[in-house]
Amino acid sequence: MTSKTSCEIDEKDSDCCCSNGNNRVNYKLHWDTVYANNPVSKLGWYEKESTPILQLIKKSNINKNDSIFVVGAGSTTLIDNLLQDNYTNITANDISKKGLETLKNRLGDKAEAITWIVGNLVTPTSLNSMAKIKFWIDRAVLHFFTKDKDQDTYFKLLKEKVAKNGFVILAEFNLSGATKCSGLEVKRYDTKMLSSKLGHNFNLLKTFNYVYTMPNGDKRNYVYTLFKRIA
Ligand SMILES: C[S@@+](CC[C@H](N)C(=O)[O-])C[C@H]1O[C@@H](n2cnc3c(N)ncnc32)[C@H](O)[C@@H]1O
Repeated sequence: MTSKTSCEIDEKDSDCCCSNGNNRVNYKLHWDTVYANNPVSKLGWYEKESTPILQLIKKSNINKNDSIFVVGAGSTTLIDNLLQDNYTNITANDISKKGLETLKNRLGDKAEAITWIVGNLVTPTSLNSMAKIKFWIDRAVLHFFTKDKDQDTYFKLLKEKVAKNGFVILAEFNLSGATKCSGLEVKRYDTKMLSSKLGHNFNLLKTFNYVYTMPNGDKRNYVYTLFKRIA
């Protein structure tokens, strides 16, 4: 399997144990195990089509060659959808090499058009050296960072990387959402909390609550937000 770019995770990341609630969790191992042991279409966040995110991207009117950075992409169908829609400058990140490998295998030859970065968003190393980007897309990733310190690191990286006039999509469990996902505790958000994390340099363009139906029929409540960086 070849790919345009492959930045492997630093060794210190792969051994990383991080706090989740009161527990110590080896996140890389956790997510690699999840992706190794479950078919993609059975995952509790699987979408046949990434419709709500695609709608928000359309609203931004970006060019097909603008840089799109999908954080915690795992094996998301969003990447398939973006390629179908002829976006040409896509980077997919995840802490789980296994998750990204599943996605790469599904894409086949098309995987070569994607830049792949295995890396931890809350202890960024290779991610720090990335160039500025036009679009940051997060679905169901930020809400796993339950510690202030990890949220601060995440938003510091986002603010360093999203260019002026760039866009951010944050789609997380809302305040009526589940308190756990994949066995891990989550922090739930509303639009105001996400706006406040981003600060005055980001204008809210669109927000809505969205009820996602899991493959087993259970419902999960999300808040979707689209922001534009104005300064
Ligand atoms: C619930 S899944 C969502 C996957 C994808 N965004 C989607 O919508 O299908 C959460 C994803 O975040 C990734 N993740 C969790 N912690 C991470 C971290 N610290 N850095 C990068 N990715 C992380 C997991 O490996 C997993 O793929």
